[in-house]
Amino acid sequence: MSRSSVLRQSLLAAVAALAVSPAAFAERIAVTADRLVDVDSGALREKAVVVVDGERIVEVRTDGQVPADARRIDLGDVTLMPGLIDCHVHIDGQSGDFYTEAFRRSPIDNAVKAHLYARRTLLAGFTTVRNVGSAEFIDVALRNAINRGEVQGPRILASGVALGATGGHADGGTGFSPYLRFEGYSGIADGVDAIRAKVRFDVKYGADVIKFMASAGVLSEEESVGEPQYSQEEMNALVDEAHRWHRKVAAHAHGTEAIKMAVRAGVDSVEHGSFLDDEAIALMNKHGTWLVADIYNDDYILSEFARLKYPESMIEKERKVGRIQRESFQRAVKAGVKIAYGTDAGVYPHGDNAKQFAKMTQWGQTPMQALQSATVRAAELLGRSDQVGAVRKGLYADLVAVPGNPLNDIAVMENVSFVMKGGKVEKPAAP
Ligand code: ARG
Repeated sequence: MSRSSVLRQSLLAAVAALAVSPAAFAERIAVTADRLVDVDSGALREKAVVVVDGERIVEVRTDGQVPADARRIDLGDVTLMPGLIDCHVHIDGQSGDFYTEAFRRSPIDNAVKAHLYARRTLLAGFTTVRNVGSAEFIDVALRNAINRGEVQGPRILASGVALGATGGHADGGTGFSPYLRFEGYSGIADGVDAIRAKVRFDVKYGADVIKFMASAGVLSEEESVGEPQYSQEEMNALVDEAHRWHRKVAAHAHGTEAIKMAVRAGVDSVEHGSFLDDEAIALMNKHGTWLVADIYNDDYILSEFARLKYPESMIEKERKVGRIQRESFQRAVKAGVKIAYGTDAGVYPHGDNAKQFAKMTQWGQTPMQALQSATVRAAELLGRSDQVGAVRKGLYADLVAVPGNPLNDIAVMENVSFVMKGGKVEKPAAP
């Protein structure tokens, strides 16, 4: 061994001897509240005491007993629950004037503002989000900055660029002059080989999940709202490749045929899922495919997008989708399809993510089911059940509180009054 490496070794040993795990110093906190939503059992509990040590929950009690060595944060007459999870957001953008978005806003503008959206999302009670489609890997950079504690925001599962066919929903150039070039990273990939390469590209630059466009969409210029945009062979290859890299797949799919193709290809979740028929529902149940349906979106698009000067053709497509999507959702709930909460926030303002709870109960879910969709069930879809999604010993101490009782009035979810993420108070309860 050289002298310098001996020196380095002994230095390392000295540092190791000094290092004490942060948990040994961190004070234990006991968060207490009159009510707790136990999403694991589907019951409402009283006199909740959640003991937090460092980043994690170490004990959950429902006898009001606060451990002597813990600092108490008493929230009083509120309902406590796990941090909420939104499985479909676009954290790096927000709808604005159509022409500004198309011609005057670059991914750099989006990157500059993304931290604001992340903060609003967190303060609305969403401590984990899955970002499905991001320009220039902004979601990856944001995720990393948040994980390092440099930026305030939710835990992010990032997708990088969303894959899709030339001329399809992921192709920003569709509908514009062929002489207009949109530069930058793109998710456009046609054919099995290019698709496999694009999945690898996303994984290479940090994607946790793969998003692709199985069908046409509303807020894009293709003629149809839901026709398939990949062949079965292409979808099969995409899912096979993503799963080989242990990445789950989220498929944007409005139309019945595209939904079925995506499900047969083995995707983990169908996003939007607007036109479900009995066979599609049966197929989803057979394959255990999740439905992530953004059923609040329609209200916002129909009330605001004309003002934002979006082309009438897109608004017309929304009129074809909105109500049917909600009816599909209701049938899926009845048939027992697995439902995870996902809103498409970014289409409407970040921070309003909880507005969808009321829609989900209006269209078939009980309030408890809606809360479970946004917590324990969402964590299952994300493959993070051992980390987030419940108030349970061992999980991250991600907690939110709302006034009143959401099981009686789900709209209180829009007034989150306290947020803790990983044991850190992000939004203190008002005194
Ligand atoms: N991003 C989606 C699309 O453009 C939004 C769909 C919104 N409409 C709805 N009814 N969920 O296709």
